[in-house]
Amino acid sequence: MVFFFSEGFAFVNFCKIYDCDIVIESGLRFGGSTRMFLNFLNNNIIIHTNDLNQQFPEDIKNTVNSIKNEYNDRNWNFYPGDGEKIVIDLIKKYENTDKKIGILLDGPKYSLALKIQDECLKFKNVKFVAIHDMGEGPYNLPKNIGKKNIFKPINKLRENNNFIFSTDSLWYRNEYANRVDNEIHKNSMTKVWKKFKKKYPIGCGLVFCQNPNNNIKFTKEKKNLYYK
Ligand SMILES: C[S@@+](CC[C@H](N)C(=O)[O-])C[C@H]1O[C@@H](n2cnc3c(N)ncnc32)[C@H](O)[C@@H]1O
Repeated sequence: MVFFFSEGFAFVNFCKIYDCDIVIESGLRFGGSTRMFLNFLNNNIIIHTNDLNQQFPEDIKNTVNSIKNEYNDRNWNFYPGDGEKIVIDLIKKYENTDKKIGILLDGPKYSLALKIQDECLKFKNVKFVAIHDMGEGPYNLPKNIGKKNIFKPINKLRENNNFIFSTDSLWYRNEYANRVDNEIHKNSMTKVWKKFKKKYPIGCGLVFCQNPNNNIKFTKEKKNLYYK
């Protein structure tokens, strides 16, 4: 599902808090998140993007070509293949360095994303893992009521002590997210954005899990986790 500006804003700020040198993301499709990171992160941060490249090969090809054209001075690399393996292989490249890594999982999703998140946080270089589509927003829509399977991974996530923040949280929506989304969307209302903003007015939720071994640690507080 579409990555909202308020979600990109939160991700970029987490990278700043942890002074990340490297971003690894899984799930490219139209490159919304990738472009946000390329636009709003410092030029010296290396961005590695992975996609399975099976469901939407034409979209992926077009996106890779256009990003390479638009950001030809940036250290951006694309890796086709299964995120479950590629993300971990990429982290291992930095295992014996002091590089700090932030991760976005936006495909695969749900239980598989939670499993990859667990694996990622075993590496001390990984400061945080953000997982998309884990907010409550879209799942409380009438068409999704009763689809209990969707809530299983979300409920499992809530038991995870590393889970510290969701872009669903009401204070974040009121103080930042609504403003960020309304202002930026207003100026970039393409057909795709219009469709998704109508379908998921507050986005699909980006959640953050911290490495328990971080020097900077957040405590888990209810107000940071829920749309209430
Ligand atoms: C919702 S899209 C990503 C959207 C993108 N982050 C954006 O902001 O535009 C999900 C992507 O995840 C990819 N995907 C699905 N399963 C995957 C896997 N196991 N490994 C890597 N990518 C996967 C799909 O091919 C699809 O392109």
